[in-house]
Amino acid sequence: MPVQDFTMDWDHTDPQWVNDPYPIWDDLRQRCPVARTERYGGGWFPTTHEIVSAIANDTEHFSSSNVVLSPNKHQPYAPPAPIGGAPPITSDPPFHQIARRLLLPAFAPGPITRLEPYIRDFCRRQLDQIGNRRFFDAGGEYVQFIPPAAVSKLLGFPENDEKIFHELVRLILDEIDMPIEERRDLLQPMRDYSNRQIEEHRLHPRDDLTSLLIEAELNGQKLSLDHINGTMGLILVAGIDTTWSAITSALWHLATHPDDLARLVAEPGLMPLAIEEFLRFYAPVSMARLVRDDVTLFGCDMKKDDWILLGFPAANRDPLAFEQADNFIIDRAVNHHCAFGLGIHRCLGSNLARMELRIAIEEFIARYPRFEITEPELVTWSPGQVRGVRHLPVRVTTK
Ligand code: HEM
Repeated sequence: MPVQDFTMDWDHTDPQWVNDPYPIWDDLRQRCPVARTERYGGGWFPTTHEIVSAIANDTEHFSSSNVVLSPNKHQPYAPPAPIGGAPPITSDPPFHQIARRLLLPAFAPGPITRLEPYIRDFCRRQLDQIGNRRFFDAGGEYVQFIPPAAVSKLLGFPENDEKIFHELVRLILDEIDMPIEERRDLLQPMRDYSNRQIEEHRLHPRDDLTSLLIEAELNGQKLSLDHINGTMGLILVAGIDTTWSAITSALWHLATHPDDLARLVAEPGLMPLAIEEFLRFYAPVSMARLVRDDVTLFGCDMKKDDWILLGFPAANRDPLAFEQADNFIIDRAVNHHCAFGLGIHRCLGSNLARMELRIAIEEFIARYPRFEITEPELVTWSPGQVRGVRHLPVRVTTK
């Protein structure tokens, strides 16, 4: 049912929200900083930076046991809290810190920087395939391949298996209304794929994240196969759709704002500030929490197992937190955005994401210093908790 009033009946998959959520969030921020819905079994949507931050930092009242909002609040096949199906994102304290610490070596600046030449070369090869064509889909023919390649390299998986990863992402993030049993069956090929990779790495250990997970120990015991599979699934889902969305949104912005494109081409030193502003302005990721027990907070009577949709993108547009919050300022100097989240679950892959964004944009604008959108009606945005451009038909211009 289409939404009539977002204050009492919000739905993040409503076409109005998917196509242009910002006016909705501005309105909600003024009328009720925390909006309510009865959909998905009931939930809340905070719109201010202050409340998003308070909830993200409050693990006493809010659990991460399920972070993707759907009618299925509990996951019967996942390990119970505080572990959850995809540690550490589905883990609560105290297990969360243990599961997160295991991954830290793989995401330190050193190992991530070592991926740069590979990612740059990969981007160039993708652009070579587009060649001299003047019209193409920058989302479908370029960007969508970059994050799967980067994540495959990190995990030590073969290149060019992106189809199965995109299917995993679709089933987890997009098919939220699908019955659990059906989704479980459809995920079986992905489980078989992961098990093959684990087996292959057991036979031939190497310096990658899969070998790190296989060799890791908790209390003197190797990690369970469920834990390894869950974390590998998390890295694939968290690392693909998110970065893909961030890159396409940035290219969409440049295609529709020729002054910013011209500045970035002329002043490459602007790139670090521009990347932070792309992340703030087009933050792709919202995450869910479940209310642990009945509680009244922020003037809301929250019930046990109510959803919270943590709108980091909405917090990034809060005028109390950012000057000219609804203006894209390519050289914004002070920019404490929360695109990568807040609190204990803050993104582990932020160094990698920033590097992919930088390389993907640098290589694209080096090859095509001028490009535009000729058919805006063909541009599509993904629905749900990870928002970004999917089809981005561009025309390369010479003037
Ligand atoms: C622009 C791209 C990205 C954005 C906007 C983003 C955003 C986020 C956000 C908002 C969270 C917090 C989740 C929560 O509070 O429940 C998160 C967590 C996480 N992200 Fe990212 N992410 C991006 C890319 C990546 C990449 C490339 C990887 C790895 C390959 C990654 C791995 C993770 C992991 C493992 C967590 C869970 C951390 C924990 O629970 O302690 N992310 N991300």
